[in-house]
Amino acid sequence: MVGADDSHGADPATYDRYRELKRFDESKSGVKGLADSGIASLPRFFLRPPEDIAADRHCSGPAAPTRLEIPVIDLGSLAAGGRPAAVARVLEAGREVGFFQVVNHGIPESVLEGVLAAARAFHELPAEVKVGYYSREMGRKVKFTSNFDLYESKHANWRDTLFCVMGPEPLDPLELPLVCRDMMMEYSRQVKALGTTLFELLSEALGLKPDHLLKMDCTKGHALLGHYYPACPEPDLTMGTTKHSDPDFLTILLQDQIGGLQIYYRDQWVDVPPVAGALVVNIGDLLQLMSNDIFKSVWHRVLANHVGPRLSMACFFTLHLYPTTRMYGPIKEILSEDRPALYRETSLREFVTYYDSKGLDGTSALTHFRLVK
Ligand code: OGA
Ligand code: NI
Repeated sequence: MVGADDSHGADPATYDRYRELKRFDESKSGVKGLADSGIASLPRFFLRPPEDIAADRHCSGPAAPTRLEIPVIDLGSLAAGGRPAAVARVLEAGREVGFFQVVNHGIPESVLEGVLAAARAFHELPAEVKVGYYSREMGRKVKFTSNFDLYESKHANWRDTLFCVMGPEPLDPLELPLVCRDMMMEYSRQVKALGTTLFELLSEALGLKPDHLLKMDCTKGHALLGHYYPACPEPDLTMGTTKHSDPDFLTILLQDQIGGLQIYYRDQWVDVPPVAGALVVNIGDLLQLMSNDIFKSVWHRVLANHVGPRLSMACFFTLHLYPTTRMYGPIKEILSEDRPALYRETSLREFVTYYDSKGLDGTSALTHFRLVK
């Protein structure tokens, strides 16, 4: 049985990592399956390499000198004269931090709580029901996966995910598991509307017409990722999510009250504290590329925790694998002789395929598309 081994995988000479990964994958019960089996120590393929842990020591911990407060932007007064101030704050946050939180964003708390509860209900279904959704197929619209990059990454993460592509082609609600169907559809509709507002503000922040990014199809598609981070028996030895930047235009993230999300800012890991009712917004790789580095897509990660489960719902604004011929590169209107294009153009399919093939390896996918390395 997966997880029966309590000795971090025993003898290095006989350890067959691929076989262990396959055994875990074929259990189709994810990290929650391991946690439920009552293991007291982690299977070896979850362990962060010692050099990763050592590299962290100088840039995290309570003694870290950087005290950044993640900006909180109030969207409540956009129509009442607050728009210029909000645009200025979005520009400042997008350029300097790459992350901010929004409050008074229009999505009721009942919907926020409801969608996290719905995701939790899915992950806590009996294993034999969830098995039917377990998949690694690239093209599948609704799937339950543990570690999308299980076979590519240096070590596995203590996290399971329900991944749902909600558009551009409208998802047939019947494809969603019944326990979370209505809430995911409702959240999808509301988070898309918020995305539209944010892309308008981001367009204005770049000095463009409010609908510029909308016309570039930035809100045409999105995926919802319902992450489940079970309580972890040895949180210091693994990660909930390895450091990465997001493979999309923009992410709107709803996290519960447990915490653990951190961003990398001026060589330090800084907490993104849960703020009740707020949503976390971060610039994705594609928007960094389109804004020619004005906006920053920054590294972030999630720590594993003795306390759990932690739930989060990420909304990735991306067309994902939708067949479009549109090419994405630095926006012409913001380029000049002094500000030449820093990236070549790419199709979304090329970008997403490259990102997924690389896995979360601690490097930026953007490097691959940069003109001057
Ligand atoms: C992501 C992500 C953070 C979280 O889905 O890309 O960074 O808190 N999630 O789950
Ligand atoms: Ni992310």
